[in-house]
Amino acid sequence: NERTFIAIKPDGTARGLIGEIIHRFERKGYKLVAIKILHPTKEQAEAHYADLSSKPFFNGLVKFFSSGAIVAMVWEGKGVIKGGRSLVGATDPAQSLPGSIRGDLCVEVGRNIVHGSDGPESAQHEIKLWFKENEFAEWNSIQPVYEN
Ligand code: GTP
Ligand code: MG
Repeated sequence: NERTFIAIKPDGTARGLIGEIIHRFERKGYKLVAIKILHPTKEQAEAHYADLSSKPFFNGLVKFFSSGAIVAMVWEGKGVIKGGRSLVGATDPAQSLPGSIRGDLCVEVGRNIVHGSDGPESAQHEIKLWFKENEFAEWNSIQPVYEN
């Protein structure tokens, strides 16, 4: 079953939006299989955004991502990688549509409250980066999985 890595960034936790963001993924029909709250180190932030290390905003991004608590999560479900990005909305909140998390809840590209993996490779990589094998729960949600 498809899995993606979603993180509520330090601005999201500071603003009291943890429940709001989890609610949206839960309502959609995705299944939460791992979750923790932590204050990332600078090294963890650098590793998480390593593919952006040549960008001019990289240092600011790392400083921000390690400035407070994040909620790290793995969500599972049909098409959850793309669907999760769709719930999150476009990178720049000025472009994210109303109805998306960023479109509804923020205005600054550097303070866009939530992260979502952008593809299957990054999802697999990020899940490994933030979670150990024994941090996943196996459980049955009532959401049925249809074969067709
Ligand atoms: P994440 O889910 O956090 O990975 O965002 P994204 O996939 O929508 O965008 P991307 O991975 O390209 O960039 C990571 C983060 O860097 C974004 O969420 C922004 O907070 C920040 N960022 C991206 N582009 C810019 C930019 O042009 N200027 C600034 N200041 N920040 C940017
Ligand atoms: Mg990204």
